[in-house]
Amino acid sequence: MARRVPLKRLLGLCSLLTLGCPAPPTPDAGPTCEVVLPEVCGNPALRFADVQPLFQTHCVNCHYGQLGGPWPLTSYMDITDWADVVRDDIAFCSMPPADAGTGMTLAEKALILDWLRCGFPQ
Ligand code: HEC
Repeated sequence: MARRVPLKRLLGLCSLLTLGCPAPPTPDAGPTCEVVLPEVCGNPALRFADVQPLFQTHCVNCHYGQLGGPWPLTSYMDITDWADVVRDDIAFCSMPPADAGTGMTLAEKALILDWLRCGFPQ
């Protein structure tokens, strides 16, 4: 038979160990990722020229190939060689970093994801 530990004791232990249990999440706590991955190619007319300025504005300030930094995202090949990783990072809002303050909008992310979904035409 399992020994029952009183709830009060568990709570006390928790606050002892962690100096306060984590507060329950509030609806507006932290940034949320609202990006939706397109399931089909919705805009086959998109070309690299349409999305290149977005990479320029929101990525290249870090991804320009400096020593010890992230690899460059400056050319078509730089970006498409890593298309899957780029897609995932944008889709899961891990890039651009939330604290980078590039101000990338949902519409801009959607445009890049559309272009990638359509096979990144040059
Ligand atoms: C503020 C600087 C900064 C900006 C802006 C930025 N990145 Fe990054 N990125 C980094 C750094 C640093 C790394 C390497 C460390 C890491 O993985 O977090 C990285 C890594 C990555 C990776 C590889 C991570 C992995 O999953 O292995 C991808 C893909 C990427 N960035 C794409 C982008 C794209 C696309 C943009 C623009 C939409 C962007 N980044 C904007 C700094 C930046």
